[in-house]
Amino acid sequence: MSYLSSAKIAIAALIVGAGPALADSAGEKEYVVACAGCHGESGMGMGPFAELLNTETPNLVNLAKANGGVFPFETVLTTIDGRDGVRAHGSTMPIWGERFKSSATSQRGETADMVARGRILSLVYYIESIQK
Ligand code: HEC
Repeated sequence: MSYLSSAKIAIAALIVGAGPALADSAGEKEYVVACAGCHGESGMGMGPFAELLNTETPNLVNLAKANGGVFPFETVLTTIDGRDGVRAHGSTMPIWGERFKSSATSQRGETADMVARGRILSLVYYIESIQK
């Protein structure tokens, strides 16, 4: 739960850069590389990998609508991160928190975890920006 404290989210926002506009474009690039294969280029679900894996991948543009018109920021954050174990066992969604952390390289003394959280946060901002 401490992961979600607003102080930490604020720190992650600083790492991402400056504000949602920048985070959106960073998040969009990340999305195309890491997520579009399963969730579709436009977030509508069923990208090319999903067909190969024979899984249903949810559409990511109706998350706000499905939550009474409010984008479920924290749920999306923890779903993507996956490290808190809340996600169902056997989920086919990769644990992005682990992946981003293990691929992080530090040039200015950031920890791998800071880099991973920043990347995840920029993805959440991007997904928020594509809600219908
Ligand atoms: C290998 C295929 C695959 C990839 C790649 C993938 N996902 Fe998923 N994702 C899934 C599946 C399958 C689900 C359905 C629920 C589950 O299994 O956890 C899901 C669920 C989700 C959900 C929850 C949707 C809901 O309706 O609550 C979010 C948010 C999400 N993914 C975001 C992302 C993001 C962001 C990325 C890229 C960093 C990504 N996914 C990459 C397969 C994938």
